[in-house]
Amino acid sequence: MPRIHRLAPDLANQIAAGEVVERPASVVKELVENAIDAGATRVAITIDLGGKRLIRVEDDGEGMEPEDARLAIERHATSKIARADDLGAIRTLGFRGEALPSIASVSHFTLRTRARGSQSGTEIKVNAGAIESVREIGAPEGTCIEVADLFYNLPARRKFLKSDVAETTQISRLVTQLALGYPEVGFTLTTSHSTGSGPGGRQLLQAPPAGSLRDRFFHLYGERPDLVELKKDAAGLHIEGFIAALGDQGPVRGSQNVFVNRRIVKDKTIAHAIIESYSVATIKERSPEVHLFIRIAPDRVDVNVHPTKAEVRFLEQSLVHEVLRRALGEALGRGRATEVQFRLEQPLAAAADPLPMNIPGVWAGAVVGNRWSPESFNPGSSNRESFNRGSPIPNRESSIPDQGSPIGDQGSRIGDQGSRIGDQGSRIGDQGSGIGDPGLKDPIIRPMIPLGQFRDTFIIAVDDEGVAIIDQHVAHERVLFELITERLTSGRLESQRLLTPILLDLSPSQREALRQHAATLERFGMEVEEFGGDSVRLSAVPAVLDPAECEATIRELTENLEGLDGGTRADEALRRIAATMACHAAVKANYPLTLDKMRYILEELRRTAYSSVCPHGRPVVLRLTRREIEKNFQRI
Ligand SMILES: Nc1ncnc2c1ncn2[C@@H]1O[C@H](COP(=O)(O)OP(=O)(O)O)[C@@H](O)[C@H]1O
Ligand SMILES: [Mg+2]
Repeated sequence: MPRIHRLAPDLANQIAAGEVVERPASVVKELVENAIDAGATRVAITIDLGGKRLIRVEDDGEGMEPEDARLAIERHATSKIARADDLGAIRTLGFRGEALPSIASVSHFTLRTRARGSQSGTEIKVNAGAIESVREIGAPEGTCIEVADLFYNLPARRKFLKSDVAETTQISRLVTQLALGYPEVGFTLTTSHSTGSGPGGRQLLQAPPAGSLRDRFFHLYGERPDLVELKKDAAGLHIEGFIAALGDQGPVRGSQNVFVNRRIVKDKTIAHAIIESYSVATIKERSPEVHLFIRIAPDRVDVNVHPTKAEVRFLEQSLVHEVLRRALGEALGRGRATEVQFRLEQPLAAAADPLPMNIPGVWAGAVVGNRWSPESFNPGSSNRESFNRGSPIPNRESSIPDQGSPIGDQGSRIGDQGSRIGDQGSRIGDQGSGIGDPGLKDPIIRPMIPLGQFRDTFIIAVDDEGVAIIDQHVAHERVLFELITERLTSGRLESQRLLTPILLDLSPSQREALRQHAATLERFGMEVEEFGGDSVRLSAVPAVLDPAECEATIRELTENLEGLDGGTRADEALRRIAATMACHAAVKANYPLTLDKMRYILEELRRTAYSSVCPHGRPVVLRLTRREIEKNFQRI
């Protein structure tokens, strides 16, 4: 059994360096953090060959007296904590006293420093952890540390470094983050050209001291109209930030900078809160660009949980999560209306309670005339039996106050209008008894109240369970499909004879398909016969069909039927014909509807149990549930 022995300090430092000093960027991080802890107002960083040849960090902070300078490079020597208690509420970036000795153990290290008010400065040179020289020098107030030839004594480590460009990128990303965390501190990042290409160095970043986080942010990132500003104080947390607005592009990936008490961290709680806020707001999950600055009392967060202090642990994780989620959600809502999640309406199972005769607050909304659609319905389509019901809504114009009337007058007119609306209400009430009629075929499904149309294509409706968007064409198609198939089971569809028969030229196989299914087509109220040559003659069509649609319907039917050979079951042919007819008979998209027509479609849809898909499999209803709405308005 080999004897246990203490490691030489150099070796111990190198082992510590393995954790703290991973790459040039980690050296820069430790040195800049020290400068910030020393109260610097300006930090100048110079790197050469991605920091592999040289890293120099100069600051105008408080500097060190000679004695402190010597201690600084000793392991576990720190000015930042003294007792175990201090670990409970750390206010500085450093606290372990490990960085300088670790870095010095794996490089050619030079420390020059002069304490504020001191006459002279100190220079200490260390090679791979061994002190080479300590001397008194003339130096500006503050501290300058040079780290040359990082890992020169650890070739295995050096091999793992990336290209100069890659290491430089890492460093500039890190300095950007540090600069975000400390707007009041001026930063410069420069490359020095030791390779001799061109005079002087190249400035990678220059950030003069800024008056606010906002100024610093826009200095570093430019004007960013795609970001939303966030500010929130809650539960002892102060949160500021700039976060990606909900764009039109869908999912976005972007850089995420999260600071807790000005320390850059990666934290699962925070990351999750971000994902959740965005996934509530948009349908797709995204990893958005987020810059978050969180301040919390130092005793409510543990920073001593990670070797490079890149993680923290919140004492009240779920609280932080919740506050953050809300702050983000609010900010996103400000940037743009929150896009709340929709889900497909599933066919409703039998609900427990009977249909309410009235839904509080919903009827009231429905009695106000439809602002989006004209009241008159295109008379050209009056042959659609679906729209034969009269409109119970009185002429809206009559209840709108005269524009040109004097104000005094208007007042009384508005009073008038009120009573008219009352009138309207009672009329709807009448009709309501029809809609809410428990005698309906399927009274357990709640009625939806149409509010209007969106883009003349979608019906917006509400019921007690939420808001629904209904594709008017698909919904009507579904309704007609049910109607057609229902009629077929009890005989045949009503037919309308055409005054002028329609002649159609079809291919032989199309004509053959029609001939094969002639009997079935007749049940649909369709009379087709061969008319010599390529022609067929259409002399009667189903009553549900607009004659203008007949030709297109027949053409589509022949295509649908062509594929069906004699062996196909007859009901499949029926189904296809019914689907094609329903599609052509249904109200189109981009077609204005009156409230009454919408009500009709919804009512008929209710009879089909709000069928969730059209005969072609397209969804009929999108639902925004009450729960989703209440959740997003933070009412639950
Ligand atoms: N740039 C600097 N200016 C002034 N003092 C410094 C600077 N860098 C380091 N020090 C001193 O050296 C000590 C050791 O630094 P370091 O090894 O990074 O440990 P820590 O930052 O954890 O205390 C610090 O506590 C601080 O007193
Ligand atoms: Mg430190």
